[in-house]
Amino acid sequence: MSDRPGFGMRPSENGSPAAPPQAPAAGEPAPPAPLPPDARVDLAQERADSHADEVLDALDAELVGLAPVKTRIREIAALLLVDRVRARFGIDSARPNLHMCFTGSPGTGKTTVAVRLAELLHRLGYIRKGHLVSVTRDDLVGQYVGHTAPKTKEVLKRAMGGVLFIDEAYYLYRAENERDYGQEAIEILLQVMENQRDDLVVVLAGYKDRMDSFFASNPGMSSRIAHHIDFPDYKPDELEAIGHLMMRREGYVLAPQTEPVFRDYLDRRRVQPRFANARSVRNAIERARLRHANRLLAAAGEVDRAALTTLEPEDFLASRVFL
Ligand SMILES: Nc1ncnc2c1ncn2[C@@H]1O[C@H](COP(=O)(O)OP(=O)(O)OP(=O)(O)O)[C@@H](O)[C@H]1O
Ligand SMILES: [Mg+2]
Repeated sequence: MSDRPGFGMRPSENGSPAAPPQAPAAGEPAPPAPLPPDARVDLAQERADSHADEVLDALDAELVGLAPVKTRIREIAALLLVDRVRARFGIDSARPNLHMCFTGSPGTGKTTVAVRLAELLHRLGYIRKGHLVSVTRDDLVGQYVGHTAPKTKEVLKRAMGGVLFIDEAYYLYRAENERDYGQEAIEILLQVMENQRDDLVVVLAGYKDRMDSFFASNPGMSSRIAHHIDFPDYKPDELEAIGHLMMRREGYVLAPQTEPVFRDYLDRRRVQPRFANARSVRNAIERARLRHANRLLAAAGEVDRAALTTLEPEDFLASRVFL
């Protein structure tokens, strides 16, 4: 047994001086007394107890590439963990600002990372619930005078204790229309974002260039965003690795002769309209599964495990990208 107090353990349970008597507010437990200055806390144990590594490992396993994104999320986890330990010594510091902006093209993993982030912030005690509420302009802004404030407040209420993810946030602001109701939503958001006691993290997401001009017109919003995280388009090798990861998870493999066909598919798809990075890879695999299933049924013979799991060249070659 270590003589160090475990995470979340009251000092009095561990032989340290008991908390001085306090009058707790009804329903609220009294805060534990701060650790004495010479107390020692095992950070590795704190880390294990928070279960933050499970989320960070899942992020690593689930997402190919995105090294700078993963690094930043790890840094934030470290900050929150150290902050928790500081608080146990009674060291006062402001709640860190964690409002963020995720920029990148469609299908680069922004929503996926936001979901994991919410879970992580919850495990580290920064937010109470850890859910993600994903909205766009239409969820926040009304059509008529007096409709916007209740709509925005309702969304904020739902998001409290979690992460509010505002996709294509720049649509909230319309430069050409001074009386646009979006401005009202922005002002309500600004207030809530400023008030760090509110247990909410706001993530704005969208294309980088549009987000930049949104911030240029809305300096108040810009100054409240602590972390700007860019999600670059995936390189051909990364798209291929993403495809393999997705197939492995779904119980499919490419036949050796399908490998070059799949690469060729991705090269062609990448330069076509409405290419959406990892999402397009997912869609390509979905359609290959469809053709695979139809091919097996059309053959109408017996199947073995290999036949049920192996994607052949024709499962991709029938795609429109090869026309
Ligand atoms: N790096 C990656 N590795 C593996 N899968 C990924 C990766 N990035 C994204 N995906 C997968 O691609 C799909 C789209 O990702 P996601 O929805 O997070 O993208 P997005 O950036 O939010 O897109 P949009 O801007 O269109 O909303 C998801 O199924 C996700 O799991
Ligand atoms: Mg998204």
